[in-house]
Amino acid sequence: MSTETSHQPNHDGHSVAMRVERRWAVFAGGLIVLLVIVMIYLGMHSAMTSPSRVETIDPSRLQMSGEFVENNLGSAVEPDGSVTVRFIAQQYSFTPQCVLMPADTAVTLRVTSADVVHGLEIMGTNVNAMIEPGYVSTLATVFPKPAEHLMPCHEYCGFGHQTMWAHVKVIDKATFFEAARHSRRLSCVSR
Ligand code: CUA
Repeated sequence: MSTETSHQPNHDGHSVAMRVERRWAVFAGGLIVLLVIVMIYLGMHSAMTSPSRVETIDPSRLQMSGEFVENNLGSAVEPDGSVTVRFIAQQYSFTPQCVLMPADTAVTLRVTSADVVHGLEIMGTNVNAMIEPGYVSTLATVFPKPAEHLMPCHEYCGFGHQTMWAHVKVIDKATFFEAARHSRRLSCVSR
């Protein structure tokens, strides 16, 4: 008798615990499946900050040849009407120091580092990436309206890290393309 009464609640408690545990297991398992589906969906549509394809570059030769030579930096209009922006990060500045872009236009950023790992963040937007020496970071984005943003380096890169930042000026689309007719590469450093 005494064993039965003491045994009964224990047995019930055990089955309740099993049921609750199973429910949590199903919930957690479902959550993992859902997150994997979300990752695959976003990756396939590359709509979010999915990793860009791996593109390597010799960081010691950036200034000598290739697309990151000095007169090729800044914003350029492509034949399809999109804009490609190239800039370099180095201890402790970005080149150009002020990046000019049109609003409401497909923009591709191509960025690399001349020395160590730096961070790319355009404040107030979802542009956020690492800039690694030896690799070209590529980001596609659209700035909806004219605005000015700060672009700080957000990856500790040495003693001058906190002084490393640039400006991003997003201007009216028509104004940008008018200026682009007179200049092959645009930046707002001298504007
Ligand atoms: Cu460059 Cu921190």
